Parts: sequence; structure tokens; C-alpha cells
Amino acid sequence: MTNFTDIDSDRVIIFDTTLRDGEQSPGCSMNLEEKLKVAKMLEGMGVDVIEAGFAIASPGDFEAVNEVAKVVKDSVVCSLARSGNMDVDAAAEALEPAARKRIHTFISTSPLHMSVKLQMTPEEVHQAVVDSVTRSRNYTDDVEWSAEDGTRTEHDFLCQCIESAIKAGASTINIPDTVGYTVPEEYADMIKMVMNRVPNIDKARLSVHCHNDLGLAVANSLAAVAAGARQVECTINGIGERAGNASLEEIVMALRTRADVMPYTNEIVTTDITKASRLVSAVTGFQVQPNKAIVGANAFAHEAGIHQDGVLKDKRTYEIMTPESVGLSENKLVLGKHSGRHAFYEKLKDLGYDLGDNAKHDAFRRFKELADLKKDVFDEDIVALVDDEVMTNANDRIKLVSLEIMCGTVHQPPKAKMELEVDGEVKSVDATGDGPVDAAFNAIKELFPHTANLQLYQVHAVTQGTDAQAEVTVRLEENGKTVNGAAADTDTMVASVKAYVHALNKLLVKREKTAPAALSA
Ligand code: KIV
Ligand code: ZN
Repeated sequence: MTNFTDIDSDRVIIFDTTLRDGEQSPGCSMNLEEKLKVAKMLEGMGVDVIEAGFAIASPGDFEAVNEVAKVVKDSVVCSLARSGNMDVDAAAEALEPAARKRIHTFISTSPLHMSVKLQMTPEEVHQAVVDSVTRSRNYTDDVEWSAEDGTRTEHDFLCQCIESAIKAGASTINIPDTVGYTVPEEYADMIKMVMNRVPNIDKARLSVHCHNDLGLAVANSLAAVAAGARQVECTINGIGERAGNASLEEIVMALRTRADVMPYTNEIVTTDITKASRLVSAVTGFQVQPNKAIVGANAFAHEAGIHQDGVLKDKRTYEIMTPESVGLSENKLVLGKHSGRHAFYEKLKDLGYDLGDNAKHDAFRRFKELADLKKDVFDEDIVALVDDEVMTNANDRIKLVSLEIMCGTVHQPPKAKMELEVDGEVKSVDATGDGPVDAAFNAIKELFPHTANLQLYQVHAVTQGTDAQAEVTVRLEENGKTVNGAAADTDTMVASVKAYVHALNKLLVKREKTAPAALSA
């Protein structure tokens, strides 16, 4: 376990906020089981600080922080808190079981946020900084203070608040680019300004937290590190509010690949990156865009003939890092129905999955079922299959039991006969609709009445051919809250219903989050 007060001056602390800011992505929500899986993954890959949630935001968030605090031993577990006493106390209570805990308290410091959002004077905000840090220090000596909308804050006031936060006991000072407004040079100058002007800055670590509204979150974070910041806040796959946060995998691989110009270290096990990306994508239902740096499906693919020719001669011609360095296997061995358990488990390992025994057995059973339906089982099929397994949670309130669809050119409306298990009770219905998907979704609505609107229905074939698995994404919206569900199956209708049910289960979790002001961080 690293003691942050005693580490090399070039070491950058990796603070992951996938479970907090990441979960604030529109359409995203994770249940407890999913959050625990992600937290264990982050711990295993060497993340220094895991921001597990915002304890006061909802009973679900409180429980998530509390459970993560119980199971994570190697990383610091952190909860966000606004500056009020109730927030700080809730964070402290949720973090109580943690081996190492951090309270992260924040308040807006920009003129716009103070006058319009908070309706507080700068003097009142300054007092709230002192009070919240002081209160947090009663619970732990690891306190982080953030100046929300820091990059649009007047320099004199920012320096005054930082100096007071450090005096009150904060050991990490975060200057977020909350609205993704800054640019690298300006942000670096701000970090240098704070380091030059705040007299007690040597008693704290400077942190950065960048949003990606202008696509500059990673560039801004790296510029800040070069200027002296030594903690970067980031998320797996760059998920987060609006356009997202700086992506962990891009920060870490940029530091690793260009250590010649950015000689800063971190403890991330980069070969876990692909695995982490897949897990987060599976539990959130957010597919990674194919051209996403580091973890996109095309990140290591070479299409142009000239590039392929170069790579065959020497990979370094067009590859600045190896696929293996991010945990991506080059083994494209295709499996089929004669492939045995050993080959399948090896393949899981190559693909970066580290499953427990039960999950491995289940995945093998599903692989065999798939191999009966599909001659060649490609890597993409196995990824879809395992991710689908990850998305099915024992605690889901709604489960698909059976589905029959009737449709065609005969002049009868398409019909769906469906059985769902709702809170342990199996219910069935026959429903009609404008098409088979509509009929199936109407059946779900009859069995589990709800008012959510379908905002997105998207199907994509995992591989080529008519026997390919369909991967379906469904987005539902209810009272301004959106959730994504995803599922894969060789039967497009089954995948569609499973994706809808997945989204509905997530919506039920999200309904609990009833503290809108708490979610505005
Ligand atoms: O973007 C932001 O300002 C935040 C803070 C709460 C750190 O998420
Ligand atoms: Zn943020």
C-alpha cells in the first residue's frame, strides 16, 4: 500500500471516478453488484483512489460507498460531499469500514456559480470551505477539497480558498474544469499560478479533474501534470457528465508511451485496461466507439494496404504501443462446437477476462449453446456473450422467462407471447403491435406497467453472416432520467427484449436517486 505523503515527486496519483462522475453520464446507472465488480477491477489494476459515489445522493449511493469501503483494501475509497454538515457526515458514515478513506468535499467558486447557483456571497463560500474541510478532518486525515468551476474562478479568490482549505487540513486540492472550458496552455498556467501564489501549497497535492466538452480533457490533464499537478481524476472509457471526463486509459497510456517527454510515473497495470473497459461498457450499456483511442475496436486495426504492409514488415511502422500492453490478445483463434473447456478458458484469459469459477462455468455453458447455433465463434461473439452474462444480475427485479413471436406477411398483427418474472412472480401475456419489436415491447409494458419513453433502439450484428449474434441497445427516459440497456443473442427479438428489460431494471435503480441538487456536481 502506497503512502501518498511519502512518494516520489514524479509519481501521479490516479483517482478514478467512474463510479461517481462516470455514473452521472446521461443514461448510465449501475446497481450495487455492478459497482462492486467495477471497484474490485479498479483496485486490481492499481488505481490509487476510487471515488465510489456520493453518499448523500440516495440510499443506493450510500450503500454502494459503504459496500465498496468494506471490500476494497488496496485503494483509498472516497465519497463526494457538498459542503453541508449532512453531506460530510453521510460520507464519513458510509466510509466507516474503509481501510483507507478520503472525504472529497467541494463547493463552486466561480462568480457565476456563486451568484446564480448557490446564491451565496464569496465570504459565505469561503466560510463553507473552511467549515466543510474542518468537519471532514474530524473523520479522516485524508481530505480533498475541490473548487467547482475552478477554471472560471477569479484567481485571487481561488488562491484565498485554497490557502484556507489547506490550513483547515485538506491534503489534496482539486481544480476542476467542470464545464470543459479551458485549453492546455491556460490550464497549465493556472496550475503554475496556484503553485507560485498559495503560500502553503507545499502541504498539499494538486489535482486536476477535466471534462471533455471541447474534446480536451486528456490534453488539459496532461498539461496540468507537466505544470506540477500530481493527481489526475479520470474514468474508464471517459464516461461522465455530458461529454464525459478525461479517460483513464488515455492518460495512462499517454504517460507510458511518451515517458520521454512526460517523465511521470503511476502504478496502473496497463494490461488490465481492455478488461476494465469491457466491464464498464457491459455494466453501463455504453458501447465504446470503434475509433476510441486505446480501447476502441479499431484502435489496433490496420485497414489501408500501405499500413498493413508496413506492420507486417515491422509493427513499429504504424503502432506506437502494442495491443498486448493494454491487455489485447492477438490470438484470433476461432472456436467452434468441438472446442473444449480448456481452449475456451484460455480464450477468456486472452480476451482479458478474469472470471470466478461459477462465472467461467456459466460462460462455457452459454458458449456451447452458442456454438450449436453458430458454426464459428469469434472473439467478438465471446466478448458479447460474457458481457451479456455480466449484465444479468441476480438482484434484477424483472427477468425474461420465455418469448414467442408471430409475424409475417399474413394479415394479422404481429403478436408476442411473453412470460416475465417480476419480483419473483411469473406473469404471462399476449400482446400485439405494429411490428414484432413493438409487440414485444408492448408485452413488457403490460406485464410491468411504466411510463418510460423509448428514446433509442439500436441493433448491430456482432460478426458477419446470418447466424451472427445481434447486440441491441435500448435507451429509456422517465422524468428526465435516462438509462441504457444492452443485450446480445443470436435471436434479435430475444436480444431486444433482454436489452429493454436490462434498461428497465436500471431505471428502477435510478428512480431511487431523489436528490437532484446532490447530482449537480
Ligand atoms: O466536475 C466537477 O467539478 C466535479 C467536482 C465535484 C469535482 O465533478
Ligand atoms: Zn466532474
